[in-house]
Amino acid sequence: MKLADNKATLSFSNGSPSIEMPVYSGSIGPDVIDIRKLYGQTGMFTYDPGFLSTASCQSAITFIDGDKGELLYRGYPIEQLANHGDYLDTCYLLLKGELPDAKQSTDFHKLVNNHTMVNEQMQFFLRCFRRDAHPMAVMTGLVGALSAFYHDSTDINNPEHREISAIRLIAKLPTLVAMSYKYGVGQPFMYPQNSLSYSGNFLRMMFGVPCEDYVVNPVLERALDRIFILHADHEQNASTSTVRLCGSSGTNPFAAVAAGVACLWGPAHGGANEACLKMLDDIQKMGGISKVGEFMEQVKDKNSGVKLMGFGHRVYKNYDPRAKLMQETCNEVLAELGLENDPLFKLAKQVEKIALEDDYFVSRKLYPNVDFYSGIVQRAIGIPVNLFTGVFALARTVGWIAQLNEMIGDPEYKIGRPRQLFTGSPRLNVPGAK
Ligand code: SDX
Repeated sequence: MKLADNKATLSFSNGSPSIEMPVYSGSIGPDVIDIRKLYGQTGMFTYDPGFLSTASCQSAITFIDGDKGELLYRGYPIEQLANHGDYLDTCYLLLKGELPDAKQSTDFHKLVNNHTMVNEQMQFFLRCFRRDAHPMAVMTGLVGALSAFYHDSTDINNPEHREISAIRLIAKLPTLVAMSYKYGVGQPFMYPQNSLSYSGNFLRMMFGVPCEDYVVNPVLERALDRIFILHADHEQNASTSTVRLCGSSGTNPFAAVAAGVACLWGPAHGGANEACLKMLDDIQKMGGISKVGEFMEQVKDKNSGVKLMGFGHRVYKNYDPRAKLMQETCNEVLAELGLENDPLFKLAKQVEKIALEDDYFVSRKLYPNVDFYSGIVQRAIGIPVNLFTGVFALARTVGWIAQLNEMIGDPEYKIGRPRQLFTGSPRLNVPGAK
């Protein structure tokens, strides 16, 4: 970042001395006001619950222009990356800052493939859960448990430990997500088969069974790989900020990523794809397209607490570019499976059309986000609704690791420790105390 040819001056109406704060510019996007000395100079904090106007760090990984609906991974537009190379090439880009050449790509694919198995003990860890446990509860436990198996690589300040932990997490998440699914349906776990692609391997671990060969459908394989690319990183979203804050204490990468999994589970964040599909199912049960108007009235009624899941975004005030790509992927998968007339997909497109013509949504700049169509395409592939967020966590692991590594590599980083505006009781004494 560089000093802007601008300064911020903070003055107070109560006569307190004004202060000047430097303004910094990045390469693109909003400038920042450096308030690090504010408390020291004024004895006051800034107040920004939800961090709507707060830059928590400097980063060179992902850029979002919410007004334009633009998403860049290391400068490359998501629309190009979705059709260039595969998910592991995108992982390489996010981790290393440049697209791999042919040899680098081959070597990276081989490296990840060498780490797709998990310790055999992990299966016994799974057995502690009920069969109907939510996969995100299982995943939060399994990812955190990985740190129990890799005592050789838990020093987050050791670049080699960070490198091998990154590979292990990217390689093992598909295996763990598939294991949490198989455990829930009572089928035997499928070991990874490294002759397959990353997404092909996941499809086989999910839907293959030991008693017969599994043939990967190339259209589904490509669609899933694109879904992984679309979910790989997204600037300082809630789960990424969680991973950064957790990692800032110096804990190991597995524990920090487990915290990210836990945060992503929430319906306001990564859990929205599951909630969106349930919402579409509910509208279908109400009577389908003819009932969309009635449902929209519920959404617009503040007292109902009903939100249009898969719509709206803290940063995008235009169409989420990932939603467009997800809709295209939906079309491809449904056509491949002869489900062009899938009622939920038709309903989703009608809901989108009605919302984008309704001033309630238009005036609030609420557009479809990445979660609006991802549930429909995942359901068509055969992924159960309660596993959608597990797939999101699988794909986002590389983003969490890249952001964590960037923070650890930033000489300015400190343990994150926000302050507060205290509104509780001043000092009291318990009865009888002096
Ligand atoms: C993800 O941050 C990321 O980058 C996240 C993510 C990623 O890749 O990491 O993109 C992934 O989490 C996508 C978002 C998935 N969540 C949902 O689809 C859940 C539904 N969306 C909302 O909960 C909401 O839009 C948020 C949480 C996504 C954003 O909320 P904000 O930025 O805090 O906005 P807000 O709640 O202040 O909304 C502004 C207005 C409010 O109305 P008013 O008070 O101004 O009258 O818009 C309304 C809100 O009530 N509103 C909605 C709405 N989203 C916002 N009204 C109905 N339905 C919605 N979905």
